[in-house]
Amino acid sequence: MCGIVGYIGTKDVKNILIEGLRKLEYRGYDSAGIAVMNDNGVHVFKEKGRIAELEASVNPDISATMGIGHTRWATHGEPSKYNAHPHQSFSGRFTLVHNGVIENYEKLRNEYLANVELKSETDTEVIVQLIEEFVNEGSSVEASFRKTLSLLHGSYALALIDNQDADTIYVGKNKSPLLVGIGEGFNVVASDAMAMLKVTDQFVELMDEEIVIVKRDRVEIKTLDGIFVHREPFTAELDASDIEKGTYPHYMLKEIDEQPAVMRKIIMEYQDANDNIKLDEDVRSAVQNSDRIYIIACGTSYHAGLVGKQMIEKMAKIPTEVHIASEFSYNMPLLSEKPLFIFISQSGETADSRAVLVHIKKLGHRSLTITNVAGSTLSREADHTLLLHAGPEIAVASTKAYTAQIAVLALLAVDTAKVKGIKLDFNPIQELGIVANAMEALVDQKDIIEKIARDYLSVTRSCFFIGRGIDYYVCQEAALKLKEISYIQAEGFAGGELKHGTIALIEEGTPVIAIATQAHVNGSIRSNVKETVARGAHACIVSMESTSETGDQIVLPEVHEYLTPLVSVVPMQLLAYYAALHRDCDVDKPRNLAKSVTVE
Ligand code: F6R
Repeated sequence: MCGIVGYIGTKDVKNILIEGLRKLEYRGYDSAGIAVMNDNGVHVFKEKGRIAELEASVNPDISATMGIGHTRWATHGEPSKYNAHPHQSFSGRFTLVHNGVIENYEKLRNEYLANVELKSETDTEVIVQLIEEFVNEGSSVEASFRKTLSLLHGSYALALIDNQDADTIYVGKNKSPLLVGIGEGFNVVASDAMAMLKVTDQFVELMDEEIVIVKRDRVEIKTLDGIFVHREPFTAELDASDIEKGTYPHYMLKEIDEQPAVMRKIIMEYQDANDNIKLDEDVRSAVQNSDRIYIIACGTSYHAGLVGKQMIEKMAKIPTEVHIASEFSYNMPLLSEKPLFIFISQSGETADSRAVLVHIKKLGHRSLTITNVAGSTLSREADHTLLLHAGPEIAVASTKAYTAQIAVLALLAVDTAKVKGIKLDFNPIQELGIVANAMEALVDQKDIIEKIARDYLSVTRSCFFIGRGIDYYVCQEAALKLKEISYIQAEGFAGGELKHGTIALIEEGTPVIAIATQAHVNGSIRSNVKETVARGAHACIVSMESTSETGDQIVLPEVHEYLTPLVSVVPMQLLAYYAALHRDCDVDKPRNLAKSVTVE
């Protein structure tokens, strides 16, 4: 994780770096720092905590026109000022920021830096000390930078400055994301285009094991062997206003509210002039030619994959397995003869998923990435991509990406069924339109959901979400949402399984939220609710029909039964949001988390 920025030009750099870091705070926010260089040398400011704390510590009287910055999600070494980036070499000549994990840093330290005491507990510091070591041995800075990078195992996006050269930022990348932005008389560096969108929309993508020499008037891309690479910039098609909160108090609430619009956008993007689903023929044939689909994902995207499996199996009749990416490589199932791997990832940067992609590519298997971020690593490296068109998702807790993932999986399932000649009584374009209206009705009922959150969740230590079939998958997502932003211990449970042990946890007042959207299991899930109420649970049922039995209810508008997760999840997202507010939690930046998980 972590985010890095850099700027070299003619304007005062401090605010450009701080503003850039603010946009990258979703990548980590336990400490942050900047280093700026002027005629008096390099000035480093760093603080534990958020960007606001860093900003307050920066000396406003120092002006400089080049510098680098970092926001950290700790991997090696606790969050603290001394572990915060930038890190400096012993003499203070070199200053470095790093996103990623250096797997062989201990080996490198023992081999090259055995007789010195490092200043931090980070894996990063080894890099900057090694560069200085090689320069002291007589190599040029660029050669030392390239040599050091070629010794590193693991992931990195780096920016380095040298206090003897005010005209250069050295940049390198392997596995971690990094872009170089191009301007008139200035150039920038960023982990994500969003960070620098206010200064340029022209970006050059970097490939693994490339370095860039960034000057005010040009950038030179090279391989680690020093061979020049030519690459044209692309225009980042992001609207700067998409990444602002506007009048919303939190990004999460804004993103929950955006879901109806995202459904409509997906319809627009995937509908052809004859109202049929528009898909790339290559994607179509990749799915058609597979005898089994393996969905690989993490967290919320994994939960969307579980819903996707149901739709693909029911409609397209292709056996589908869903795997947690970080587990897949250790428990790799016996693969079918013609597998297709579908990677679901909002960010397209998740390292656990990428590790599986790299592995299955070596085995020669085909891959499709479903992601929100065009040009992301998983998108570039897979054979095919389907985009979510959800717009930037900034809040750490994923909401609109989850519903967009399910919508795109529904379209893929229906399209596959159609091409296979399977008759379906289900028009997804029409049904997604109905879903968009239903979502709109739900986001307009915030007062009802806020009251339930206050009654059920403002003081509790735990909460159970129960459901059966597709509702059980939504329960898993509901529990994750609640856990990550309100820190309430929550569990998404299969209703029928409660009596096999977990019901022992139900006591007076334990919140139990049941999702019951599927006609064929509604009776049984209502019985499960009664079993918990008999033991003291405080129960609320989320379903399409309103009844007079058992406690509180959230009534959902009717949608097709394949698509109920798209609506039942909305009140669950809002419950988590209001629970976090009532408990005074930082909704958009929950503790210990980061939005884009680029370490394995
Ligand atoms: C939870 C959440 C995470 C992500 C997971 C995978 O709200 O956002 O569980 O879903 O880290 O991230 P992506 O989808 O970017 O691969």
